[in-house]
Amino acid sequence: MNLRTFQLEDYYDKHEFSTPYLLSQSDCESMTIRELLSFEPGAEEAFLETWLGYTEVKGDVRLREKAAALYKTCQSEEILIHAGAEEAVFNFMQIFLQTGDHMIYLSPAYQSLYEVAASRGCEVSPWKLCQSEEGWSCNFDDLVGLIKQNTKLLVINTPHNPTGYSFTEEELKRIAVLAREHNIFVFCDQVYKDLEWDGEEHSWFCDLYENSLSLGVMSKAYGLPGLRIGWIATHNKEVYESMVKYKYYTTICSSAPSEFLSVLALKHRDRILKRNISLIKDNIEYAENFFEKYSDLFINNKPQAGPIAFHKLKITGGITGFCEKLIEKKGVLLLPGDVYEVDGDYFRMGYGRKNFKKALIKLDEYLAENI
Ligand SMILES: Cc1ncc(COP(=O)(O)O)c(C=O)c1O
Repeated sequence: MNLRTFQLEDYYDKHEFSTPYLLSQSDCESMTIRELLSFEPGAEEAFLETWLGYTEVKGDVRLREKAAALYKTCQSEEILIHAGAEEAVFNFMQIFLQTGDHMIYLSPAYQSLYEVAASRGCEVSPWKLCQSEEGWSCNFDDLVGLIKQNTKLLVINTPHNPTGYSFTEEELKRIAVLAREHNIFVFCDQVYKDLEWDGEEHSWFCDLYENSLSLGVMSKAYGLPGLRIGWIATHNKEVYESMVKYKYYTTICSSAPSEFLSVLALKHRDRILKRNISLIKDNIEYAENFFEKYSDLFINNKPQAGPIAFHKLKITGGITGFCEKLIEKKGVLLLPGDVYEVDGDYFRMGYGRKNFKKALIKLDEYLAENI
C-alpha cells in the first residue's frame, strides 16, 4: 500500500489549533459534554454509570437502532458503527477493491474517497463537477462516458465537500438506475446529510438502491466530531460481514462513552439540527454583503446544502500563498483548493461556526489593507 499524504488533513494539522479565526471548517458548532447531557433529565447520572468495557464490534445496539431509524429501509443489523466516517471509508475500500478494478468518483473529493482506492492499485476516474454562472453543476453524459467494462464502484458525496453541491432526489434516482443497469456498487458519502435546507426530500442512497452503502456520521450536522462515531448502512450482506471482519483489525469496537453520547444526540437530533441549520443560513446571509462588496475579487459559489462552499478568487497568484498570508497577518484560516488537486484559485469557506462573522470581519480587514 502506497498512500500519498492526505493534503487537507495535513494542512489542518499544521494550522487548525494555532489559528484563532476558523473560517473553513466543515463541522458545525460543537458543544461540551455538559451541554449535551443537559438535554435530558437523568442523562448525566446515566453517563457516569457507563460501563467502560468493550462494546459490540457492530456497535452498541441502542446506537444502531437510533441510526437505523434514520432510514426508510434499514434495520439495526444493517448498520455498522465505526470510528468516525474515515475508518469506514478506509475499511470499505480495503474489503471491496482489488488491483485492476475501475472506480469513478465525484470530483473534487475528500482525498480518502479516491486515494485509498488508488493505493490498492485501482484505476480511478474523476466525474467532475463543473463551475457555471449559477455555481456548481454535474453532467450525467460525463458520468455515462466514464463507465467501463470493469467499473466496480461509483463514489459520490452529497451534500458535497467542498462545493456544497447537493444531488436532487431525481438525480439520486438517476444514479441508482444507471448503477443497477451496469451492476456498479455505489458508495454514497452522506456525512453532511440533514443539512439540506431546500425543503425537498433527499434520500439516504441505500434507501434507493440495494447494491450500495450510505455513510453517516456524528461529526458534521451534529457538530460532534470529538465523539469519533460514524456508521455505514447497507443491504449488501457480503459487504457488511466483510467490513465487520476487517474491523477486528482496526478499532474492534467504538468507545462506550462516545456511543452513549451519540445515542443521546440522536434522540435530540431535531433540536441540534435546527440550531446548526439556522446558524449556517444566518452566516450565508451575512456573507452576502461581503461578496457584493468584493464582487471584483471573488465568485460567490453559494452552497445548495451543507456547511461549506467552494468560492473562487478572481485574481491569480496562487491560492495557497493567499491563504497562508491571511493566516500570518490576521490569524484567519481558509482552506486552499490546492489540497483538492483542482485547477483554479478556489478556497473553501465554512458557515457552520458561531465565530463566522468575526472571522469574516478579519478577512475584510486583510483585504482592505493588502489588496
Ligand atoms: C466528505 C467527507 N467524508 C468523510 C469525512 C471524515 O469524517 P470524520 O472526520 O467524521 O471521520 C469528511 C471529513 O471532513 C468528509 O468531508
